[in-house]
Formats: sequence, structure tokens, C-alpha cells
Amino acid sequence: MFKHLQAVPGDPLLALIIAHKNDPNPKKIDLGVGVYKDSSGNTPILNSVKKAEALLLKQEESKSYIGINGAPEFAPIVQSLLLGTDSQIIKDKRIQSAQTPGGTGALKVAADFIGANLPNPKIWVSDPTWGNHLPIFKSAGVEIATYPYYDPATNGLRFDDLMTTLRAEAKAGDTLLLHACCHNPTGIDLQFEHWKVLTDFVLERDLLPLVDAAYQGFGDGLEQDVAGLRYMAERVPNMLIANSFSKNFGIYRERCGGLSIIAETSTEVANAFSIIGMAIRANYSMPPAHGAAVVYTIMQTPELKAEWEQEVAAMCDRINYLRDQLVSKLAQSGCKKDFAFIKDQRGMFSYSGLTVEQVHRLRNEFSIYMADTGRMNVAGMTDENMDYLVEAIVQVVG
Ligand SMILES: Cc1ncc(COP(=O)(O)O)c(C=O)c1O
Repeated sequence: MFKHLQAVPGDPLLALIIAHKNDPNPKKIDLGVGVYKDSSGNTPILNSVKKAEALLLKQEESKSYIGINGAPEFAPIVQSLLLGTDSQIIKDKRIQSAQTPGGTGALKVAADFIGANLPNPKIWVSDPTWGNHLPIFKSAGVEIATYPYYDPATNGLRFDDLMTTLRAEAKAGDTLLLHACCHNPTGIDLQFEHWKVLTDFVLERDLLPLVDAAYQGFGDGLEQDVAGLRYMAERVPNMLIANSFSKNFGIYRERCGGLSIIAETSTEVANAFSIIGMAIRANYSMPPAHGAAVVYTIMQTPELKAEWEQEVAAMCDRINYLRDQLVSKLAQSGCKKDFAFIKDQRGMFSYSGLTVEQVHRLRNEFSIYMADTGRMNVAGMTDENMDYLVEAIVQVVG
């Protein structure tokens, strides 16, 4: 039955994690893995999460099913984090949200919904985008097209080219995938002005925006990171938002995220949401409970909420501090290449502008691991390994 099957290549990032683990060099650095790390190189459980879990252990009375859309407490929390507590969209009941297994679960349900319900389903994604976007939409029968995004010449955003391509080729009814903030893999974000231009274009061309919000709080702050998303949401008739709590609550393995849908009226959104429920049922029936219970317990308990907000801000500050350190130390070292652009990027990831040859030299000669694309996880840097990293970059760059 399976004799004809050929093994597919594994994820190169996973191979990188294993290579780093097996490397005996005490100076080795892992900038490949996609999780937050603290100054000791650990991915900690947040204090607010530990406290919420202690409460839940005492309070939980049943492990019975929670329902297709998750816990009823969850949706209002997702909606106010994304849109703000004062949002007119929430007041008008134009949004509904389902609890999903991580941001990936949200994207998969969104893909199935688009694939099965929109005529000639097609999605526009940035070049490059998070690697998993492609198989998720492909497997749902959604045609994928790319818009220009990263400019290797300037290490910046190709916004004019992005608009030129969309203006020339996007058709009414197409879906436009945007990263809310902390673009993965580049770290280069759309600025507020860009969100305004894109909002006008979405309206003019009648597109469906799908915003992937996987890093809210990791760029400039919980509110600032969704300013563009909110601007667009307030002006367009329809939107999908896939959000993840993996990073900002540090609950990666608990698999918790949300899929929100906005439509023109409460009736329209209720109809569409019932179809989303069918997509969920056919995928995994209902989401896991624990991560979401942690999230809403924190958000409903004022002291825990305040503590969580501080913990997110601390993760964000640490990442931005490391960006500053790297850039200023590289400049002081007399490095030939100007890395100042890294300071303008946001979130854990950074397209470093290093070539594949330079990345391989860093790996083979210095035990510094990052993706072949030159994507670094800034959170893998520490005060202790920074000088070694800078020295190594200077050597490979010349
Ligand atoms: C852009 C983007 N979207 C979605 C996700 C999915 O996150 P989760 O682990 O919650 O499924 C990630 C995770 O790396 C991501 O980078």
C-alpha cells in the first residue's frame, strides 16, 4: 500500500535545531529556533501563566467537551485585544471569534473557509512570508500568488512594487494576507501610512483582508502593534483575523489562538461564522481547552492582567534592546557593512542581509546557527554571546 511513497525532506529549521543541540562548541549560539528566549537562553513560563494555572487547578471541575468555538469567555477577550475595548465593530456585533489550536489552527480554518466558499479562491501573500502559509492555503485548494515585499538591495520594504503588483493583478474577491506586525521572516513591518493606502485599495478593489497577528506585543507594544489592523478593520466591510497566543503568552505547546471574522452586519457574520464552525468540526472537532483557559483567566483577573502586560513589555523591550546592541556593536567594530536597518525591524525575527555563504561560514566556523535565508531570531542573543556574535559577523562579512 505504501511502497510507492517517497520520504519528503524535513523542515530545514528543525535540522538546524538538532545540529545546534549536537554541537559540542561551548560558544554555540542558536538564532534559528522560532521561540522567545530570555537572557539565560531559556523559554520561560510567564509568572502570570503559572499563577493562572494554579487557579485553574483548583477551580476546574470538568474535562467535558467545550464546544466547536471554544469557551464562551474566550471570544470577547480576543476581540478586545485585537480591536480595543471600545470598538464599534464589537458593539455592533459585526465580529465573531472562535478559539483555535494556535495561530496555525486559525489559518487552517480560514483557508478551508476561503477555499470552500469564495469563488475562484486566491490569496496574495508577501514575498517572502512565513513558510507554513503556503502549504496551509495550498492544501485548502486556494491559489497562491505573491506580492513583492522584501528588497535585498535596501534590506527594506518594496511598498511601491507591492502596490504596483496588486493594482495590476489583484481581482475583486481575492484574499490579501497581511502580517499585523513583526513580519515573519523579515522583521520589516508595514508602517501606518501603508495600512492607510492598503485600506483604500481593499475598498476600491473589493478584497478580503486576512490579517495574521502572531506577535501582538512583541514589536512596539500591545496597542501599537495592532494600530494598522484596527485602522483597516474600522473601514472595510469584511475581514478575517488569525491570531496566536503562542508567543505573547509563551504557551506555544498549549496550542491557543483565535479566528475572528468581521462582516457588514450581525446577521451576515452569524451566517458566515456558522460555516466556519463546520470547517472546525471537519478539522479537529473542537479546540484544546487549557491554553485558552489560561488566557481568559489572566485577562479576567486584574492583577494577573497587569502582570502579563508587564511581562509582554519586558519581552518586547529585551528584543529591541538586543537589536540596538547588535547594531551599535557592529558599527563600533568597524564592520564594512552597515547593519543599521536591523534597528528598524520589529519582532523576534530579522532578515540580517547575510548571504547564504556567510550564514554557512557562521555555522561551520563559529557554531552560530541561523536559517539559510539569513533570518535570525534576535531573542537568541544575550549580553554574554553578543561580542562573540559580532566578532564572527565581522569576520564573515569582512
Ligand atoms: C506569521 C506566523 N503566523 C502564525 C504562526 C503560528 O503560530 P502558532 O504556533 O500559534 O500556531 C506563526 C508561528 O511561528 C507565525 O510566525
